Amino acid sequence: MTKILVTGGSGFVGSRIVKRWSGVYEILAPQHHEMDITDAAAVKQYCRAHKPDVIVHTAAISNTGYCEEHPEESLLVNATAAIGLAEAAAEIGAKFIFFSSDQIYNGNTEQGLLYEDIDVAPVNHYGRHKLLAEQGIMELLPDAVLLRATWMYDLPAEGLPAHPNFITNLLNAASTGQPLRFATHEHRGITDVGEVVEYLPKTFELPGGVYNYGSENELNTYETALRFVKDWQGEETANAIVVPDTERFGQQPRNISISTDKITALSLGEIAFTDTLEGLKRFVRENRLSK
Ligand SMILES: NC(=O)c1ccc[n+]([C@@H]2O[C@H](COP(=O)([O-])OP(=O)(O)OC[C@H]3O[C@@H](n4cnc5c(N)ncnc54)[C@H](OP(=O)(O)O)[C@@H]3O)[C@@H](O)[C@H]2O)c1
Repeated sequence: MTKILVTGGSGFVGSRIVKRWSGVYEILAPQHHEMDITDAAAVKQYCRAHKPDVIVHTAAISNTGYCEEHPEESLLVNATAAIGLAEAAAEIGAKFIFFSSDQIYNGNTEQGLLYEDIDVAPVNHYGRHKLLAEQGIMELLPDAVLLRATWMYDLPAEGLPAHPNFITNLLNAASTGQPLRFATHEHRGITDVGEVVEYLPKTFELPGGVYNYGSENELNTYETALRFVKDWQGEETANAIVVPDTERFGQQPRNISISTDKITALSLGEIAFTDTLEGLKRFVRENRLSK
């Protein structure tokens, strides 16, 4: 049985990977206190002792606001430790899968869906540190697969944490009637974490490199929310709770919306994410979220 080390197994993505793939693969998921990824010697020792075939590295400080306020901690956890894990993977010959982020593109000004090979210059610490990690990992391990994930959503469930996300925010707004503002000057993909988890084993077969990994979205964030809530709750509710925010990113429109052409082509069509709006509609149907 293929042995997979998942870091961040108590986190939003990691916990879902562990739940979905336990039994299919032998999953090792040491908690933070059992293997601190910033302790390079402990990481190497763990990897030598357990010799996983694949390392899926999801552990991170994922809160961008926190990273802005704690840049040294972000650098250590999101870049230095990620490179340390890649070193350990190189030593034991494990395939290395790294969760990077679409925030890598947050300094870009191009319009339309963004491809992996454009020049990037992220404008916040989180994005810069993910980029440093990508560069360091690729130098050490050209066979590593770096996944630029988008904003993901799910409902919380027992043993499966969920920080506030697009779906939970809108569910909250629909039940309280409290309006929510969505930026008209922002384009980004928003992805069902279930798809991210489901496709994960197929990424083990990919050639090394950087891949956009999530739903495409041609709509701005306001249009996405409005169309989604119209479909799910009807026009009246949509107009009441989805409010346009024309100021946010007004000076410098933000486009971090990804193209997934590369991963779909190189996986020979096996990894084919649903578009953001279709994914949201399907999520509501599958989870029977009432009107
Ligand atoms: N969620 C999203 O929408 C999103 C979007 C784009 C990219 N990503 C990326 O996807 C990955 C997974 O995100 P997520 O939402 O699952 O993050 P998360 O919920 O914040 O979980 C982060 C995990 O990392 C662990 N961790 C943090 N510091 C650690 C350390 N020093 N040693 C060991 N473990 C440590 C945490 O454990 P403790 O809680 O015990 O500290 C937790 O299990 C991250 O790399 C993130 O940057 C996420």
